[in-house]
Amino acid sequence: SLTRTEQLDRKNEEALQGGGAKRIDAQHQKGKLTARERLDLLLDAGSFEEIGKFVMHRSKDFGLDKEHYLGDGVVTGYGTIGGRLVYVFAQDFTVFGGSLSETHAEKICKMMDLALKNGAPVIGLNDSGGARIQEGVLSLAGYADIFYRNTRASGVIPQISAIMGPCAGGAVYSPAITDFILMVENTSYMFVTGPNVVKTVTHETVTSEELGGAMTHATKSGVTHLVAANEVQCIEYIKKLLSYIPQNCEDEPPRLPYTPADESRPALNTLIPENPNQPYDMREVIGELTDADSFFEVHTYFAENIVVGFARLAGRSIGIVANQPAVLAGVLDIHASQKAARFVRFCDSFNIPLLVLEDVPGFLPGTDQEWNAIITNGAKLLYAFCEATVPRVTVITRKAYGGAYDVMNSKHIGADMNYAWPSAEIAVMGASGAAEIIFKREIAEAEDPQAKLQEKVAEYTEKFANPFRAAHRGYIDEVIYPDQTRQKLIRAFGMLENKVDQLPRKKHGNIPL
Ligand code: COA
Repeated sequence: SLTRTEQLDRKNEEALQGGGAKRIDAQHQKGKLTARERLDLLLDAGSFEEIGKFVMHRSKDFGLDKEHYLGDGVVTGYGTIGGRLVYVFAQDFTVFGGSLSETHAEKICKMMDLALKNGAPVIGLNDSGGARIQEGVLSLAGYADIFYRNTRASGVIPQISAIMGPCAGGAVYSPAITDFILMVENTSYMFVTGPNVVKTVTHETVTSEELGGAMTHATKSGVTHLVAANEVQCIEYIKKLLSYIPQNCEDEPPRLPYTPADESRPALNTLIPENPNQPYDMREVIGELTDADSFFEVHTYFAENIVVGFARLAGRSIGIVANQPAVLAGVLDIHASQKAARFVRFCDSFNIPLLVLEDVPGFLPGTDQEWNAIITNGAKLLYAFCEATVPRVTVITRKAYGGAYDVMNSKHIGADMNYAWPSAEIAVMGASGAAEIIFKREIAEAEDPQAKLQEKVAEYTEKFANPFRAAHRGYIDEVIYPDQTRQKLIRAFGMLENKVDQLPRKKHGNIPL
């Protein structure tokens, strides 16, 4: 008979085989890596410590008492990424399709409990056929145990979910509660009910990819924040994301060394078109203002009229929220408000200062927007900014019209520093709209109404469509030359480095959901 050590050797060997060579081949055939291969790519070499390697399910029904795999379809443990501690779980599709059993869930919960107590991020690599069908309600209980922990950990430790295969039914709600979801094109999908059920209930014919593939969730639903072309890129994105965010809500984001240099950016002086209705790409402004190649955009393909992402300024991590005049003139609509609000709240939870770049013509009009609650949804962004206590700086590059001026991190709702470029127009609305309303009679009665309108537009522009009125009031701290903006921001965020601000004592606020 085998010695204990030999038994251990054997079990260790067996655990590494997952569901066996045939199923591993099938996984590779689909263009997917195994759970262990993924963890190898994710974690620093040699840093992985596995926990629960020999865990087995306890079910007896449907012949499962004769089918056991060490680890029970999920590899869990901890390791480091760039030297920083993370907790991980990677579902193993080769074992019962990565389906979630009672014990599989217990392993994930154990990681989450450790992560919360020790203040480090949790990264989940999801690849699962859903609830372990043979286990019934035990499996559903397992999901709920995870959801509960996701929610309690929300805002305390960063939680990142990569979807690298199926993620259906109840399984979707754990990623949904986490901070960021990444998906892999063509090999991952997420939906509450799959194409077959959809066909039966709504008579729609739709493929898995159309219903819940990576690009669907990147563009239509906004469920996913990052789309990767393949699994290797997906794992690179996870690491990149982590490089901007701290270990927990008490910690500061990692900082890169920075050597002061010439911070003037002359290209910014000519970036805004003469004609205020002509678009430009706000990403060019971001590129000039932030450290070279440091901008990491998230949620890129959803609500493209607003741009959000992480960047570095003098080596320090910041979150950027920027209206995008190149898409729908940078208007705020339901999706843009939801996207930006969630990003603002993430940054605020994790001590990441916020930079807002503003060029916004207002909120999008229309029945579609009103009936789908632009009121409630626009309020999300307003609320998110109002409640944020991290350092907050705004630069108005051009338009700041109407209620959107208030919403986009205005001084009035707690921004620390508000700058405007000379091209800024801070007003209730655009000059021609304004002139048409307030000089309606004068224009109608004029001999040449068109000329009168032009005259009045010019008058309104002169009076209001500029940054000076707001600066006279102190709503704008300084009107700055565009080429000096980067220098101003470095100093302002430096000045705000030790900012302390606290919300009134409360159980929790009631953000308009
Ligand atoms: N419970 C138990 N076993 C499951 C499972 C589940 N939810 N989902 C998949 N499996 C098993 C399969 O029986 C199969 O086992 P085998 O290797 O011993 O043959 C293995 O996992 C792989 O599944 P398979 O169907 O061959 O893979 P696929 O890539 O063709 O399809 C799915 C993947 C997820 C689309 C498909 O397995 C599926 O529809 N699963 C059920 C999804 C579901 O309804 N879950 C419950 C609701 S949350």
